Amino acid sequence: MLRRLTHRSGSGDAQPAAAAPLKDACEAATDCVFHESRKSTSSLDDVMAAVRKTYRDHEVGLGAKTWEGTRPFVVSGRVDEAPGVVSFYLEPKERQTLPLFHPGQFITVSVKKPGEAAPTMRSYSLSDSWSADRYRITVKSAGGVSTALHELFPQGAEVEVMAPNGKFFLNGESRRPVVLIGAGVGLTPVLAMAKTLASQGSLRPVHFFVSVKDGENFPFRAELEALTKEHPNLQLHVLFSRPSAADREGADYRWAGRLNALHIAEALPKTEAGNDYEFYMCGPDAMMQDVRKGLRQLTGVSDKDINFESFNGEEMVDPWDVPPPIPNAASGAVEIHFQGKSFIWNPGDEALLKTAEKNGVDLPYGCRVGLSGCCDQKLSDGSVVYPEGTLVNVSPQMARPCVAYPGEGSDIITLGTGRE
Ligand SMILES: Cc1cc2nc3c(=O)[nH]c(=O)nc-3n(C[C@H](O)[C@H](O)[C@H](O)COP(=O)(O)OP(=O)(O)OC[C@H]3O[C@@H](n4cnc5c(N)ncnc54)[C@H](O)[C@@H]3O)c2cc1C
Ligand code: FES
Repeated sequence: MLRRLTHRSGSGDAQPAAAAPLKDACEAATDCVFHESRKSTSSLDDVMAAVRKTYRDHEVGLGAKTWEGTRPFVVSGRVDEAPGVVSFYLEPKERQTLPLFHPGQFITVSVKKPGEAAPTMRSYSLSDSWSADRYRITVKSAGGVSTALHELFPQGAEVEVMAPNGKFFLNGESRRPVVLIGAGVGLTPVLAMAKTLASQGSLRPVHFFVSVKDGENFPFRAELEALTKEHPNLQLHVLFSRPSAADREGADYRWAGRLNALHIAEALPKTEAGNDYEFYMCGPDAMMQDVRKGLRQLTGVSDKDINFESFNGEEMVDPWDVPPPIPNAASGAVEIHFQGKSFIWNPGDEALLKTAEKNGVDLPYGCRVGLSGCCDQKLSDGSVVYPEGTLVNVSPQMARPCVAYPGEGSDIITLGTGRE
């Protein structure tokens, strides 16, 4: 059995509310002093005003309460970022101050389409740095929920939203140089990281590798170029996988083709030794797999410094990955029932959600990583267990199929209300 490597960054509680507020606020304010004082036009008053604002923002955000379940939000704005890619600005309906999140985290939206009995959940990375009054997500039209968001959620529409979550986020306590790698719509979480570092005036060198199809299919292009101009610490390295005749090599993009570790090794300054970088990447699984292997071979970067997020929950596995132990998992075949459909789980199979999908049974899901509780189902028969190290806070009467495995002694498991 192979191990799921859908990114893991940091450890323990993934909710930012658990961070030390005073320390975070002071660190942000300290970065801000350096940043402002380096501007030749800044007076001491400018520096102090910027510091006060940064400190206040952090206090406001950390003081704001996170929430359980969903909360109504309103689409306050929409921006077309590229063909088929739309940013949604979401404001809380009750106008509460929004809690701070870690850049890289996602929210989960619950969308009920006309004619459908139940809403469907999907997770979307926050694509901007924190702001007190709105979140931004950027959605590529790719299927049921994403296309519904594009077509049925104009400005003013309401959408139910679960609080920010996720373990793929920038280590805000580190002062090491950062390498951000974003491909296609996978730019979203790493863009939030770049914008957060920039808004804090961080002195950390940031190398941002962007891989998109061509100049037309390049979401956030203007935003990234403006960010680079304003923050000399941030360097953009652009690759077009299929440049069009209008795209100019050297001006619009540096490389053509598929992004790999050679590009990254070529662009990173030789004075900053490979092992000093922290890597954060999000994009197609095959690309991330290649980059990860290549970085290890070319630069000796260790896996613990390569953080990544997979949008589709596909496994990124290497033959030498050690699967996490699953204590007390079933040692024989188990019959799984869900809403009148059934399938067989065998030892060595993946968690229930993936095994169900492979057998043509669709279970609800959102984040696919066991964090939001968005796939929880009542456990009517049998028992389930979770791999070691999975953060699952779920009652014994419920199962979280994206990370659950049948428990020893369960020949039959029924999810949902009961066997039909
Ligand atoms: C942590 C996390 C963060 C994420 N962040 C983002 C983000 O920032 N931006 C983003 O866009 N996505 C993001 N995703 C992916 C997102 O959650 C959804 O998986 C994605 O929008 C597809 O969901 P869907 O309901 O639209 O597609 P589904 O209906 O679930 O379909 C999924 C796949 O089935 C096929 N398919 C089904 N119906 C159609 C159709 N009508 N036309 C064409 N193909 C179809 C497609 O191959 C499609 O990719 C993230 C996922 C995770 C887990
Ligand atoms: S899909 Fe979100 S917790 Fe399982």
